Amino acid sequence: MCGIVGYVGAWNAAPVLLSGLSRLEYRGYDSAGIAVSDLRDGENRIEILKAKGRLQALKEMTDNGKAVSGTCGIGHTRWATHGEPSVANAHPHCSKDKRIVVVHNGIIENYKELKEYLQKKGFVFLSETDTEVVAHLLDYYYKGNPLEAIARALGRIRGSYALGILFKDQPGKIYAVRKDSPLIIGRSENGNFIASDVPAILKYTKNVCYISDMEIAELTKDTITFYDVDQEVLEKEFRTVEWDAKSAEKGGFEHFMLKEIYEQPKAVADTIHPRIKDGKIVIEELGLSDEDIRKISRIQMVACGSAYHVCAAAKYVLEKLSGIPVDIDLASEFRYRNPILSEHTLVVIVSQSGETADSLAALRESKKRGFPVLGIVNVVGSSIAREADSVFYTWAGPEISVATTKAYSTQLAAIYLIGILFGEVRECISREEADHYIQELLKLPEKIQRILDEKERIQWLANKFSHTKDVFFIGRGLDYAISMEGSLKLKEISYIHSEAYAAGELKHGTISLVENGVLVVGVATQQELFEKEISNLVEVKSRGASVLGLTSYGSYSMEDTADFTIYVPRTESCFATSLAVIPLQLLAYYISVARGLDVDKPRNLAKSVTVE
Ligand code: F6R
Repeated sequence: MCGIVGYVGAWNAAPVLLSGLSRLEYRGYDSAGIAVSDLRDGENRIEILKAKGRLQALKEMTDNGKAVSGTCGIGHTRWATHGEPSVANAHPHCSKDKRIVVVHNGIIENYKELKEYLQKKGFVFLSETDTEVVAHLLDYYYKGNPLEAIARALGRIRGSYALGILFKDQPGKIYAVRKDSPLIIGRSENGNFIASDVPAILKYTKNVCYISDMEIAELTKDTITFYDVDQEVLEKEFRTVEWDAKSAEKGGFEHFMLKEIYEQPKAVADTIHPRIKDGKIVIEELGLSDEDIRKISRIQMVACGSAYHVCAAAKYVLEKLSGIPVDIDLASEFRYRNPILSEHTLVVIVSQSGETADSLAALRESKKRGFPVLGIVNVVGSSIAREADSVFYTWAGPEISVATTKAYSTQLAAIYLIGILFGEVRECISREEADHYIQELLKLPEKIQRILDEKERIQWLANKFSHTKDVFFIGRGLDYAISMEGSLKLKEISYIHSEAYAAGELKHGTISLVENGVLVVGVATQQELFEKEISNLVEVKSRGASVLGLTSYGSYSMEDTADFTIYVPRTESCFATSLAVIPLQLLAYYISVARGLDVDKPRNLAKSVTVE
């Protein structure tokens, strides 16, 4: 959460910083600020401008950056942790006379103790943030050598951080350092960059370097030098990212979310196709021999939010296809519950951003205990991707909307591929069955497209239900896993209260909430559970609920019970999640639009949750 950016080069810095921040706004958007340094007549003047609310306010204040001169600067878009959203708490923060100016993403855990220490030394604090201690602490240690001051300050700080730093007496230089928060360095002929994420600088360069924990970067207009905390120079490699700058633009769609929903056929195809060779599934990047796959005794899956819902679906799919028992855990629970992992357990961490703090901590905990970790990750070079023993990249491209859609779909595709591969190697499914599954898998992108082509009916239903107050999503088996994702999608962007339940569980308490006006979305794609699900829908309907059924073409008896029915194409039952989720994404999207809400940036949320 929070996004940081920095630029030093030939151009005026402020417009570049604002453009970068507009790509990072998904990481937090309750205030924004920039600091630009301008060397004139031998004096380095640093101007700090901050505004509460969306970035637009800062853009207006600075005439889109045109009103600020200087070719070196840092910027920040905030998701408040310590201190309410306000101008005083907005970054950049600085020490007296702007001697040191910082932007920060992360949390300084021992900031109270450091603040007291510095206050006793006479430093005056102007905000309630944890970040401000970093500016004063650097000032305290700064005796003319920025690297030394940074190294000494890092020795005192506990927590997570990606920092962009300006020293007033070092004009034309940006310093950057990170620990447990994302940070990349970009270079181009027109200058050099720091950023929390690739899309922020994609417009200017594709040549990036992933800085590691406790490494310090010093950027000037023409040079980038990396150091360790002992001030030794480090050699680091730059690589070219393959994402297209256009993929981080809205491209004519009203919202990123709708664009990303529409990108799903391609994203799923891009994830599947490279892993099918001569009719067989080959996933070299897993680094697992057939012998290794046969030895796996258990799979432990860990993730947060929608990625956790992928794990919920994976439990059904992987157990069915591969016969391996699968445990699933929320990362925030897993890391603190002292998990018992048996020998030959494969830990799988699922994450779009590859930076989610709890998922990263779960990865480290598993590695500490000696278990191999497979990351299913979208962002190339992210922390989880770098620290996992092996990485399965989902090729969804940059996902900007806070609510995930295409990353979720590609994560599911990854699970299917792994399931079929493991199943065949372990002889849980035959070659013929594997072939049948692969053929069905290859048809998914086209079937997703068919659902998108019929979006008008869902739009109509969304308008109809946009004023509903309570929604329950119910399903059995895999349909329960889909229900969880449908419910989260709806609540996070429409602010309508919604819950997901295993349909059979409703009678154990929750059904007492069902009354006139409640909407129940009944997901029924699993043929063997269809009749049971219908019985549960009859129960809620007879208690006053409106029922929206979601099932596959052919299961027309749904209409005998449901008030409205959405159909999706038929597929292999264990892939049904990939199709059923599409109408649920569209339903949430159109309800949010009908309610006039900010679809891409729902309140209180940030895309990349880099604090626990
Ligand atoms: C919901 C959503 C979140 C993320 C979760 C994990 O639409 O996007 O629930 O799925 O924050 O994020 P990653 O996948 O980046 O670890």
